Amino acid sequence: MIDSHCHLDFKQFKGRLDEVISAAKAAGVHTIVNIGVDPASSLRSVELAEEYDMIYAAVGVHPHDARKLDDTVLIELRELAAHEKVVAIGEIGLDFYRDLSPRQVQREAFRRQLELAVELRLPVVIHTREAFAETLEIVTDYSHDLVGGVFHCFPGTAGDAERVIALGFVISVGGVITYDKSRMARMAAQVPLDRIIIETDAPYLAPVPFRGKTNQPAYVRYTCRRLAELHGVSETEVETVTDRTCRKLFRLVETFGD
Ligand code: NI
Repeated sequence: MIDSHCHLDFKQFKGRLDEVISAAKAAGVHTIVNIGVDPASSLRSVELAEEYDMIYAAVGVHPHDARKLDDTVLIELRELAAHEKVVAIGEIGLDFYRDLSPRQVQREAFRRQLELAVELRLPVVIHTREAFAETLEIVTDYSHDLVGGVFHCFPGTAGDAERVIALGFVISVGGVITYDKSRMARMAAQVPLDRIIIETDAPYLAPVPFRGKTNQPAYVRYTCRRLAELHGVSETEVETVTDRTCRKLFRLVETFGD
């Protein structure tokens, strides 16, 4: 199993990384992609990838921190992205729910990082909240030139998923699909299994039975199990299919062997 999106550099994991990594391995997780949210977190993601074999990194500036993306930071990201274990640019996108950076600044940061991903031939990890239509519009401008990407913690309907899949993207689902009356679960049940990958977004959004607690990569198991129920297939099947899609997206096989 792969946890395709987590934040082990966040303070919740301070001093407990070895324990969290062991727990992940014990749960059957063999690969973790740690996602940068700002320049410091992107650097730390790369350091984690150097420290732990199973960790790969994405580097980028989250829409919340879009203000931080100036020319200097863009150069830093480009340099970090040259590291062999950097497998994506992300997370990038638009967040009009919390609006922590002005919208025009978010749009600009999103476009500049999409351009970077095109230039570096890296896939993108996209965050979108209360901004789906506009995210799709911007991404469409680059979709021909991008090598791929994932809409993480996909907030849309099955129809929305169909549109991003038509553009060549995959979607990712997390602990939210284990919640009661989850819209994300209803959506995930209708999307072809081979267009879905799984994630924790740890430390956030822990699945049932850990809802409300600190999430960790080991818990991606519960999302895998729920996705299997939703699709009426075995857990092993979900594991095989999502691993394959995720490896292909982040080009783990080409770059690192199996
Ligand atoms: Ni995230």
